[in-house]
Amino acid sequence: MKVTMHGHSCVQVETSESSLIIDPFLTGNPLAKTKAEDVKVDYILLTHGHQDHVGDTEQIAKNNDATIIATFELATYMGWKGCKVHPMNLGGEASFDFGSVKLTQAFHSAGLTLDDEQNIIYMGMPAGLVLNIEGKTIFHAGDTGLFSDLKLIGELNKIDLAFLPIGDNFTMGPQDAVLAAEWTQADLVVPVHYNTFPPIKQDPHQFTEALKKKGMTGKVLEPGEYLEL
Ligand code: NI
Ligand code: MN
Repeated sequence: MKVTMHGHSCVQVETSESSLIIDPFLTGNPLAKTKAEDVKVDYILLTHGHQDHVGDTEQIAKNNDATIIATFELATYMGWKGCKVHPMNLGGEASFDFGSVKLTQAFHSAGLTLDDEQNIIYMGMPAGLVLNIEGKTIFHAGDTGLFSDLKLIGELNKIDLAFLPIGDNFTMGPQDAVLAAEWTQADLVVPVHYNTFPPIKQDPHQFTEALKKKGMTGKVLEPGEYLEL
């Protein structure tokens, strides 16, 4: 399968049968190389209800007649906008034609900010995603601080590829992400959620070097780059 990084936390997974995208924040991401109107997918997976993750979801869902998989509150909200949705919640697993999705916990928050109304709509719990696709396990941590149950996620799943945030400020920073990588025991770690905005500026190569010193493998994927899994 082809796994493409689109910048920030947005990752696309394409198999011969189907295509899914996680957290499609493209419009408004200064580093994104892909346009929302060019995205062809069957499913959109959302880790949580923050604008830098929900992003272009409505447009992409409607353009492609794609199903949105998200936590209950966020899925319900997208359903009200006329999108096809599959609501889930933490700890739950569900099968789809591309494979399975299990929602893990993430220590963060979730809410959509309506600046005009000075209102924030509660969007339920934030999540991480464990995907099982064609016999491979991909873990997308979503936005989270470090928490010790990442060890449990590593024990319960043989993770081939993990996407971990390193930006600091809103999520764990690079030092904590090295610990997260150790605890999840992922074969390959790709950093996400950095450099999009000034408060999350990081050197991802310093992070992958730190992994290497501890005997782990990291890979920096620039927006538009992909790997084969
Ligand atoms: Ni967030
Ligand atoms: Mn975020």
